[in-house]
Amino acid sequence: MEAADMGTDLQQVLISREEIESRLDDMAERIDADYAGEDLLLVGVLKGAVYVMADLSRRLRRSAPMDWMAVSSYGSGTKSSGVVRILKDLDTDLTGRHVLIVEDIIDSGLTLSWLLGNLSSRGAASVEIATLLRKPEAMKVEVDVKYVGFDIPNEFVVGYGLDYAEQYRNLPFIGLLKPEVYEN
Ligand code: XMP
Ligand code: MG
Repeated sequence: MEAADMGTDLQQVLISREEIESRLDDMAERIDADYAGEDLLLVGVLKGAVYVMADLSRRLRRSAPMDWMAVSSYGSGTKSSGVVRILKDLDTDLTGRHVLIVEDIIDSGLTLSWLLGNLSSRGAASVEIATLLRKPEAMKVEVDVKYVGFDIPNEFVVGYGLDYAEQYRNLPFIGLLKPEVYEN
């Protein structure tokens, strides 16, 4: 397999590393205030949320345990179908816990809407969502999101955990791929 070229495959940097970091500062400050005095469990969705989880959680001025889930949403290519399968479940019992789902992106909203229902049914005291990115024009279902980093246009983005065919996750910013990269 040929190595993906981070230099030539990108059309533009949509959100810089500095913009992401400054926004995560704000989000962490709000989370600290909102959950002051409460227990808090961070739940990350693999693999996309790895960078957001690392950079958001270390900005909190409190201890917050984290756990991880891996889900796959049936569907082809870059589209989500809403039919979700759990590939790796949580190790933690959610009974009575205040859960904050940490996500990279909400596109159609189908995955998170399913996840909200699933985690809520496990007896959590509360389930809220923090996402770095949201595409308002792509949303097919209403999902109540408590913390949003950036609303972005309805275009395919990579970097900062987001991949195209497992490439580009490790870009330190959010970028737009040239259409020919994923149309081929
Ligand atoms: P839904 O549509 O269910 O999708 O909200 C959520 C999942 O789809 C992936 N996704 C993307 N991945 N660039 C990506 O690299 C994108 O622009 C994009 N939009 C959706 C992602 O895994 C997300 O959790
Ligand atoms: Mg994801």
